[in-house]
Amino acid sequence: MSKVKKVVLAYSGGLDTSIAIRWLLENKAEEVIAVAVDMGQKEDLEAARQKALKVGASHAYIIDARKEFVEDFVWPLLKANAHYEFEYPLATAIARPLIAKVLNDIAEKTGADTVAHGCTAKGNDQVRFELAWYALNPKLNVIAPAREWGELCDRNKAIDYAQKHNIPVSSTKKSPYSIDLNLWGRSVECGILEDPMIEPPEDAYALTNSIEKAPDQPAYIEIGFEKGIPISLNGQKMDGLELIEELNSIAGLHGVGRLDQMENRLVGIKSREVYEAPAALTLLKAHRELEFLVNSKDLMHFKQSIDQKYAELIYNGLWFSQFRMSLDAFIEKTQERMTGLIKLKLFKGNCIVVGRQSPYSLYNHGLATYDADDQFDHTAAPGFIKIFGLGVKTFFENK
Ligand code: ARG
Repeated sequence: MSKVKKVVLAYSGGLDTSIAIRWLLENKAEEVIAVAVDMGQKEDLEAARQKALKVGASHAYIIDARKEFVEDFVWPLLKANAHYEFEYPLATAIARPLIAKVLNDIAEKTGADTVAHGCTAKGNDQVRFELAWYALNPKLNVIAPAREWGELCDRNKAIDYAQKHNIPVSSTKKSPYSIDLNLWGRSVECGILEDPMIEPPEDAYALTNSIEKAPDQPAYIEIGFEKGIPISLNGQKMDGLELIEELNSIAGLHGVGRLDQMENRLVGIKSREVYEAPAALTLLKAHRELEFLVNSKDLMHFKQSIDQKYAELIYNGLWFSQFRMSLDAFIEKTQERMTGLIKLKLFKGNCIVVGRQSPYSLYNHGLATYDADDQFDHTAAPGFIKIFGLGVKTFFENK
């Protein structure tokens, strides 16, 4: 089989994508360009870049996509209160369309007609990458080494292969888990976690304290929003990146952000997933609370079903789609008044809303109070009940 000329590979610096460089050069491509996308994973990406070159990439790039990630991917997700299956805040899922976009840009610039990712055949990420490429450039060819390389799935065989080809295998003990990390959260799979009845060991976690180790005193925080976007923390204006990083550390310190979830994958498998997302879960809770205060009842109830669809479409790799663009138009409209302040208490793994305020609040003290300044028209209630209950009454009278 003839080789393609140039492949742009999504590169993490780990063993699998390093092996993928060699494997592509041996089996599929004359030239491999490695691309590591910085989305706040705080890894030594320059070391990864050097490693890619050493292993045989002709060029290796680090693309800092953190700002774009926050503004164009995470904020729309937040406005949609998106949690997949009511829990997972979609950190891995929301990063994939952006990685695909960065790779497509580099393929365009370097004249490559082929891209590659390191996903296996059993996960969701392969779908997310490839659907994004369908949308961005349907002519791109895709190679997925880890779907093809058979025996290299075996960890020991992979290490043998690496040693044979002078691919550095990190000397520190390899984590027993498969980990994906960015500033919106951390996903942990494999190893002992595959037994859903066993509590995740402490070493599965890296961003959060256990409840036991969390401080004995709570922290109170205030998050300010403008049109659905968080803009301040404890009265201090912050850009999105800074705010998320700050919240990751403070909520993580208090043990907020751990999830242990039985999840339905797109490819039909149920899998046990462990997540840490201190900032994401805190912001999602605060944002939703502001909607409770500001949005009318019918809008709120309707938007819940939109939000759920939005989470599913992110999970299912449909970010670049007519469906998402249309939902965004609706959601954007709902955020026009989403300005205000939410006060939260972080304590021993809990994130509790304790206060809310907005210039667009629909809370009316005169209507809600039981005190003397009550303005609610009590005489209207009996007539309201009579008409509202007419259907029920008619049905039960007609026995
Ligand atoms: N189950 C999650 C998802 O599909 C997390 C995937 C984690 N990916 C990884 N490469 N470890 O979004």
